[in-house]
Amino acid sequence: MSDSQYFHDSPEVASDPVDIDVSLPDLAFRLRTDRGVFSRGALDTGTRLLLAEAPTPPATGTFLDLGCGAGPIAVALALRSPGAVVWAVDVNERARELTALNSVRAGADNVVVAAPDDVQSETRFDLIWSNPPIRIGKEALHELLVRWLSRLAPSGSALLVVQKHLGSDSLATWLEQQSWSVERLISRAGYRLLRITPVD
Ligand SMILES: C[S@@+](CC[C@H](N)C(=O)[O-])C[C@H]1O[C@@H](n2cnc3c(N)ncnc32)[C@H](O)[C@@H]1O
Repeated sequence: MSDSQYFHDSPEVASDPVDIDVSLPDLAFRLRTDRGVFSRGALDTGTRLLLAEAPTPPATGTFLDLGCGAGPIAVALALRSPGAVVWAVDVNERARELTALNSVRAGADNVVVAAPDDVQSETRFDLIWSNPPIRIGKEALHELLVRWLSRLAPSGSALLVVQKHLGSDSLATWLEQQSWSVERLISRAGYRLLRITPVD
């Protein structure tokens, strides 16, 4: 799959699904992936790092998987915190369909799949986990992060996994300039895990 296709609203490339088994230290589930959706046929290395290293999420609350793709982050969050509501948001219609299917198959009935504009503007998030779409370009990425990080609850936090060679350090600096607090939690295998919290 070319990198230019996975974040389109409606992929033109023909569907050709592949199921993968996601195995994490505390969880295992099957995930359907497809052409036209990020990381067909494998769990992305950055996503695996986030899912393996993230602190245990709160038991309850309103969470967001920003840019859910086929849904590995949303499904893992929902299974780890069955008492939470996990919004799974993506512009890509095929990604949303896969996340809905994968949530049902994993028994994660606390996932709400939505297009970005279908999330009520008053919804606030206690937790955001994301492998964000760096390849949409710096300006679009900054707009996306401002849009969703601004909706963190005052005591909420976000975890972003970003490749170092795709600009994790300059992104962290930019986030700090926008008055978020940024903690560099982990640096491994070419990725950084950033924890972002609002500053009052
Ligand atoms: C790097 S992929 C991560 C996918 C999935 N979370 C994973 O870890 O496998 C980023 C995702 O962001 C989505 N995306 C791109 N622009 C977006 C936007 N403006 N709003 C929401 N999602 C977007 C893409 O379609 C893609 O599925």
